[in-house]
Amino acid sequence: MKGITGKGVFISGGCGDIGRAVATRFLAAGARVVLGDLLPVKAGQAVAKKLSADAAHYVRCDVTSAASVARAVRQAAVWLGRIDVAISNAGTVTNQPFLELTEEAWHRTLEVNLTGSFRVAQQAARLMVKNPRRGKERRGVILFTGSWVQEMPWPHGGSYCASKGGQLMLMKIIAQELAPHGITANIVAPGMVYAGLTKAIYDRDRRFAKLVDKTVPLLRMCSAEEVAGSFLHLASEDAAYITGTSVIIDGGAMLVRRE
Ligand SMILES: NC(=O)c1ccc[n+]([C@@H]2O[C@H](COP(=O)([O-])OP(=O)(O)OC[C@H]3O[C@@H](n4cnc5c(N)ncnc54)[C@H](O)[C@@H]3O)[C@@H](O)[C@H]2O)c1
Repeated sequence: MKGITGKGVFISGGCGDIGRAVATRFLAAGARVVLGDLLPVKAGQAVAKKLSADAAHYVRCDVTSAASVARAVRQAAVWLGRIDVAISNAGTVTNQPFLELTEEAWHRTLEVNLTGSFRVAQQAARLMVKNPRRGKERRGVILFTGSWVQEMPWPHGGSYCASKGGQLMLMKIIAQELAPHGITANIVAPGMVYAGLTKAIYDRDRRFAKLVDKTVPLLRMCSAEEVAGSFLHLASEDAAYITGTSVIIDGGAMLVRRE
């Protein structure tokens, strides 16, 4: 893909299933990648080294702390030389029926998924606006891992769906405000991925698994690898004119079915 070789990429939640799949695609295309996550530095560094001995690096990054995100993004910029692509991917989910939804779960989910995205995007953007610009080339690309439920309610998903819906509007604001700086912002919104957050629930909750199985017209869940390619595309030169939008990868789950 054009325009990826040599680019500096930061991924929050980078040690998770989707984060590692995205990092793997960028590394294979010749980018350098910094993973930010909650693991202690030694354990995180081991994850990074497994992906690439010299083109991947780890910094500790807790997106619930403004200071931690600021430090991680700064460290990533030093290691990379400059941040060309920032991916806000850290996420958490708690499914609770609305009548039983706790304030604790509500606040934690919004803090990680929405406020965490704001912090990662803002810290990265503050550096990107200073990136020298060559011709029409972008100064930076900001991407988010959204979810098809950003626009579609999922039963018992009050806090999660609200966090991803908020992230969708945040992305549009960033796209609108930063376009004149040569920075694009977009979301990759997966549906049901047999990975990370959803895999854990799918494997332990038969009711959830049945609902998933009959929700997806393509009759299977997505893999983390099938999500990763869209991040690469949106960061590539082919997507230089795409900003303020979402790529939904849901196997048709949002289509109305009449049967
Ligand atoms: N798995 C799915 O079906 C699915 C579907 C749609 C969207 N998503 C989104 O994909 C993203 C990645 O999820 P995943 O499925 O790979 O799950 P995962 O659990 O494998 O990865 C999530 C990562 O985020 C990290 N994280 C959590 N809280 C953090 C914090 N405070 N600071 C920094 N890192 C933190 C975790 O340590 C983990 O490495 C999330 O944003 C999630 O909402 C997942």
